[in-house]
Amino acid sequence: MAEKIKEYESKELTVIWKPEKCIHSEICYKGLSDVFDPKARPWVNVDGADDQTIKQQVDKCPSGALSYRLKNESETKDEIEDEQIVEVSKGGPLMVYGNIKVKHHDGSETYKHRVTAFCRCDASSNKPYCDGSHKKIDFE
Ligand code: SF4
Ligand code: FES
Repeated sequence: MAEKIKEYESKELTVIWKPEKCIHSEICYKGLSDVFDPKARPWVNVDGADDQTIKQQVDKCPSGALSYRLKNESETKDEIEDEQIVEVSKGGPLMVYGNIKVKHHDGSETYKHRVTAFCRCDASSNKPYCDGSHKKIDFE
């Protein structure tokens, strides 16, 4: 079945949301509630902030559910971070900010960009990554 994709357009920017990837980290609406409001319809208001501010917030989405496309650019750039930051989120995943390489036990490797959420609660069906299940089990 095709992946669900929703798009929200301003003049220069299109915010793309893939609901099935969202891990409900709440980072987007805690960080920029004028644009991301889960109670509003549509829940993304691209007129709520300037494009640069929206882009910076979208870059913090740990699941890849949010991304953007610029009208005058064909592809999104991934900026290389020279520093990685690890953050333990309260009742949620281990967040790693910056570009990283994940080595899996079967020898395969995955490159992750910007933000990656690793499961701390053991309930994720997508380990080593968080899939939002910590909410269902009230992980503390
Ligand atoms: S995973 Fe991304 S889209 Fe979902 S709530 Fe968190 S920041 Fe928002
Ligand atoms: S920490 Fe999110 S599913 Fe485990």
